[in-house]
Amino acid sequence: MRKKIVAGNWKMNLDYQQGLSLFSEIVNMVKDEVIGSQQVVICSPFIHLHSIAQLAKGTTQVAIGAQNIYFEDAGAYTGEVSAVQVKSTGADYVILGHSERRAYFGEDDQMLRKKADAALKHGLSPIFCIGETQEERESNNYFEVIRTQLEQGIFHLSGDVFDRVVLAYEPVWAIGTGLTASPEQAQEVHAFIRSELVSRYGQDIAGRTTLLYGGSCNPKNAPQLFAQPDIDGGLIGGASLKSRDFTDIVKVFN
Ligand code: G3P
Repeated sequence: MRKKIVAGNWKMNLDYQQGLSLFSEIVNMVKDEVIGSQQVVICSPFIHLHSIAQLAKGTTQVAIGAQNIYFEDAGAYTGEVSAVQVKSTGADYVILGHSERRAYFGEDDQMLRKKADAALKHGLSPIFCIGETQEERESNNYFEVIRTQLEQGIFHLSGDVFDRVVLAYEPVWAIGTGLTASPEQAQEVHAFIRSELVSRYGQDIAGRTTLLYGGSCNPKNAPQLFAQPDIDGGLIGGASLKSRDFTDIVKVFN
């Protein structure tokens, strides 16, 4: 049974106290809602990580993640944060390859490969993001785009470590736009990703890999999205900043 995950990506929002308050609300609201093989992950800005990891102690249902790391372990890289440092806060996950990182900060496949290696080396599970832009969707070559992102960014990993990888399909045209992919559109791509996993790693690993959908996911559309056979949960942006909405999304798997 592959893990069902609902992960919140707070992006660059919430000051220190606001983050702790929201996290405490979420933990209190979801602790009786998370069942079986489900996992909730909160991916906060760096400033919150250690404190919310402390608050999460004693509840296995809620894990902590970062939204980025640098790939070196230590050194003269002003402003950067390493996997070693993120892991030392108590975090267990890290989002990598988010379209905003690729677009605004020039992260390419080569850098993402190194970041994935660093994350896994230091005990962090990558939530590795892939997805096409509006232009790539309209030109109908989105399968090729996604195949390249997988092959160049994460498929260098051997099968024995791939078990710790979570993939997130985030159509760029659906992120923050309120324009969600339809369940059919999302399932089509998730099924394609699953088939690429079968080709690269075989049926067993492909069947165990968690595939998340991200892009304007909310309590109204989550039930139909999560009902799709190859959608194993969501990577939630805006709705993760509202404890009730985020909890309602978590409850979809109940
Ligand atoms: O990483 C999740 C994020 O990109 C989706 O954002 O606001 O469309 O749910 P949003």
